Amino acid sequence: MNYKQALTHPIFKVISQSAKELQLDTYVIGGFVRDYILQRGSAKDIDIVAIGSGIELAKQVAKNLPNKPKVQVFKTYGTAMLRFEDIEIEFVGARKESYNENSRNPIVENGTLEDDQNRRDFTINALAIDLSLENFGELLDPFNGIQDLKDAIIRTPLSPDITYSDDPLRMMRAIRFASQLDFKIEEESLKAISRNKERINIITKERIVVELNKIIESPKPSIGFILLEKTGLLSYILPELTALKGIDEIEGQRHKDNFYHTLEVVDNISKNTDNLWLRWAALLHDIGKAPTKKFHKKIGWTFHGHEFKGSKMVYQLFKRLKMPLNEKMKFVQKMVLMSSRPIVLAEDMVTDSAVRRLVFDAGDYVEDLMLLCEADITTKNPKRFKKYHNNFKIVRKKIVEVEERDQIRNFQPPISGEVIMETFNLKPCREIGAIKEVIKEAILEGDIPNEYEAAYQLMLKEGERLGLKASK
Ligand code: CTP
Repeated sequence: MNYKQALTHPIFKVISQSAKELQLDTYVIGGFVRDYILQRGSAKDIDIVAIGSGIELAKQVAKNLPNKPKVQVFKTYGTAMLRFEDIEIEFVGARKESYNENSRNPIVENGTLEDDQNRRDFTINALAIDLSLENFGELLDPFNGIQDLKDAIIRTPLSPDITYSDDPLRMMRAIRFASQLDFKIEEESLKAISRNKERINIITKERIVVELNKIIESPKPSIGFILLEKTGLLSYILPELTALKGIDEIEGQRHKDNFYHTLEVVDNISKNTDNLWLRWAALLHDIGKAPTKKFHKKIGWTFHGHEFKGSKMVYQLFKRLKMPLNEKMKFVQKMVLMSSRPIVLAEDMVTDSAVRRLVFDAGDYVEDLMLLCEADITTKNPKRFKKYHNNFKIVRKKIVEVEERDQIRNFQPPISGEVIMETFNLKPCREIGAIKEVIKEAILEGDIPNEYEAAYQLMLKEGERLGLKASK
């Protein structure tokens, strides 16, 4: 079958021409071909393999392009990259050894196309399309990758033990592709991952997190996490999650399996948001439950303070995985810390003051928090499910009302410290903070509106109570 129709982008003609000038056989390979066949939208990365020097080919292509782009050369890996429009094009010479960024001996022997395909990770990523002028568009598929794409199967070209030990990150890549594409990992491959799981330790945290994020961003992340758990990889990467597994029973009292509950929450939230960090928050919202779990004879299982504990654990976890310790992490911490607040509201009567306090504490993240809490409703009891969702509808309505009336989000006190100091002729002192706190509390409680005049009157009253004298 001819795949000329995959090569309509003008860059391919330029590559063909350049390859002819250098007399190199050249192919487009990997993700571009896979995603074309799966019709996954237009590619942002194109991988080109040359039977010879990929670097020379990249330079020739750059010369033949009208805007003469810069060629970035990675000598250690024998690769080169250039950008054309919004596409990154990577060039590599075919080789006999594996594409291992961590390889201690990166000098690789030149090989044939078949050698190169052998050393790639999966059959669906080893598909190549010929770019030579003579055979332009011809597909080269030595391992039946096309069939595996049809059957939705992840399979390694060589024996999986070899492919995975060449680059253990591929164990995570297999699971990532299974999760992204909703594919099955072939049985032998899955067993090999279980056997080789410990080798994930030699992979840098940064590369692991790239794959982890792709799993979290996939349409149904639980597919990936169940595979990570089943193969044993998860306990090396996120032991906080495996610690949530299992159900304890004492005196006939059981708690839910918080691992599978968590996965349900992540799947739920993924239907409503593509925000990677909100999905992370869903994944981590219960991690404090393992270390805070206790059994009490009278009340059964409790997880007191798990939100606070969990938010502290978020920092440790991000640090261990070399993830950014910036405002993204703080966002995840805040979501974990506040993750029980709306549900406590929804279990009871939804009062205005409770909603005001929620908006006050969550600020601009109140919408995200509501999405998290709605995703957290995994009860199988239809009556309770309906009740919680209905109450959350009321909470949402009240958030809008309270916002319109009181502008609680990003709360600015209506009376400043300066006004208090001026009124009572004070130097900086404790009383100023105390008065401000009383005003804030009165607004949140709904005793006074969030307005200057009402707050001013309350200030005078409170000052009098504290024995202060108004200067006029
Ligand atoms: N590859 C490999 N082993 C790896 C990484 C990559 O064999 N550990 C090969 C595969 O043939 C892959 C190609 O290099 O298709 C390009 O890798 P990469 O850009 O990381 O992935 P893609 O397959 O393009 O997929 P995605 O863009 O979704 O990451």
